[in-house]
Amino acid sequence: MLAKVHSCALVGLAAEPIHVEVDIASGLERITLVGLPDTAVRESSERVRAAISNSGYFFPQHRLTVNLAPADLRKEGPAYDLPIAVGILAATRQVLANLEDALIVGELSLDGGVRHVNGALPMATAARKLGYHRLFVPATDAPEAALVEDIAIYPVDTLANLVKHLTGERAIQPFVNNFAFDEQRPTNYPVRMEDVKGQELAKRALEIACAGGHNVLMKGPPGAGKTLLSRALPSILPRLILAEALDVTRIYSVAGVLSPDEPLIRTRPFRAPHHTISHAGLVGGGQWPRPGEISLSHYGVLFLDEVAEFSSKSLEALRQPLEDRIITISRAAGSLTFPANFVLVAALNPCPCGYYGDDRQECTCSMNMIQRYQKRISGPLMDRIDIHLDVKRVPFQKLADVAQGETSTVIRQRVEAARQIQAARFAPLGKPHVLINGDMGPAEVQQFCDLEETGKNLLRAAVQQMNLSARAYHRVLKLSRTIADLAGAEQIQTQHLAEALQYRPREIG
Ligand SMILES: Nc1ncnc2c1ncn2[C@@H]1O[C@H](COP(=O)(O)OP(=O)(O)OP(=O)(O)O)[C@@H](O)[C@H]1O
Ligand SMILES: [Mg+2]
Repeated sequence: MLAKVHSCALVGLAAEPIHVEVDIASGLERITLVGLPDTAVRESSERVRAAISNSGYFFPQHRLTVNLAPADLRKEGPAYDLPIAVGILAATRQVLANLEDALIVGELSLDGGVRHVNGALPMATAARKLGYHRLFVPATDAPEAALVEDIAIYPVDTLANLVKHLTGERAIQPFVNNFAFDEQRPTNYPVRMEDVKGQELAKRALEIACAGGHNVLMKGPPGAGKTLLSRALPSILPRLILAEALDVTRIYSVAGVLSPDEPLIRTRPFRAPHHTISHAGLVGGGQWPRPGEISLSHYGVLFLDEVAEFSSKSLEALRQPLEDRIITISRAAGSLTFPANFVLVAALNPCPCGYYGDDRQECTCSMNMIQRYQKRISGPLMDRIDIHLDVKRVPFQKLADVAQGETSTVIRQRVEAARQIQAARFAPLGKPHVLINGDMGPAEVQQFCDLEETGKNLLRAAVQQMNLSARAYHRVLKLSRTIADLAGAEQIQTQHLAEALQYRPREIG
């Protein structure tokens, strides 16, 4: 007897159809899995055997061949347990049902329970696109899969319940998400800008960074408030729109870090990995390539605290995604691409003792030590940073001041207004990768960053004096564009350019 069940495999952020074929032939009891399965898939036969027996069905004592087609696509992970089990039950006529329009995914536990699989959202998207009408997913993943409309999502908690549904004994009700995407939903932030005393310059710089998507490096002595400022950053990030939220959720789904009670990521990501993170953890990769922190920061902020402590290999790997907004992971079987459009915010001390440039405490490091310390961030990486910020310690009067500074709500309103100007500017271009000023390529810079005559003179002098690279030149213009947008100005004025130039790095010594 031959049975066929449809399932799917994750390839990067997309899902590809897989057909599970089960053949039963006479011969000694044996189960053979073919079709490029990895170890987790091969172990599947043991789980399936136990799950079928423990759910009260019989496991055939014949020769079983399970083929996962197409054979050239590598099958990874345990998501094929459930379709294989259903295939075996269909081949032994314990399940008689038409499964042509259904797609089934799920891992089995030995007692027949159905467990979570990664990537339910991309799988549901693919299922609908491929024309399937029904998708059977682990019950925990149903809210996530049900973000996709126009396909019936069946939450499956046990193999037995799925069989009962398929045989018409007891129907499973399709899962319906009754969520409303409310962009204005208030969020509670652990730290808000009004909790940070003083630091007006730093707050202004972070506002600009959030408004236009510019990378920031904060340098300052211990306790100056760099980490605190970065913690307040999420509170001024513009809200996500639904399309962006779904893109971000897809990445979290494939990475397996989505929480079941919050199937849709509603707030802009803010990721702060520790400096001991592995290379694959930061940029993505691993045996089954997963998105790394840079992809989990898509449309949001990647914060690297104590950036000099990160391995130089990991930091250098950020160079390509910082330019291209995607990360390509090469593997023997071809390469995979994950989105990685993030704003980099990094913090470090200016030297090993931490007090170089401080106006109250003397630095005990030699110039050589300072230079060596700062060289840990390579030139090419420094060149990709638009805002170099010296964070000074806040004087006592300010710390003790009870007066409240500007609130995050007010700052975020300005950020969102500037984003709206950018959206209106870039929408007619029809380039999906150019959404904010930070995304502009040379062509857009030329089109949208025109300077006044005095501005041109100032920039010419600055390029010579500061020895700006072509990239830095473009980055200064993009930053000026954002500063002008925050001011609601159509044309970039010289004062906007002058402010942007203030954020260039200063030479050491
Ligand atoms: N501007 C500020 N307003 C209120 N509290 C502040 C401010 N700056 C610093 N603090 C206090 O000092 C603590 C230390 O600040 P923070 O951890 O941000 O320093 P840092 O610059 O990251 O130092 P390090 O270089 O040692 O990591 C904060 O948790 C907060 O309690
Ligand atoms: Mg810190």
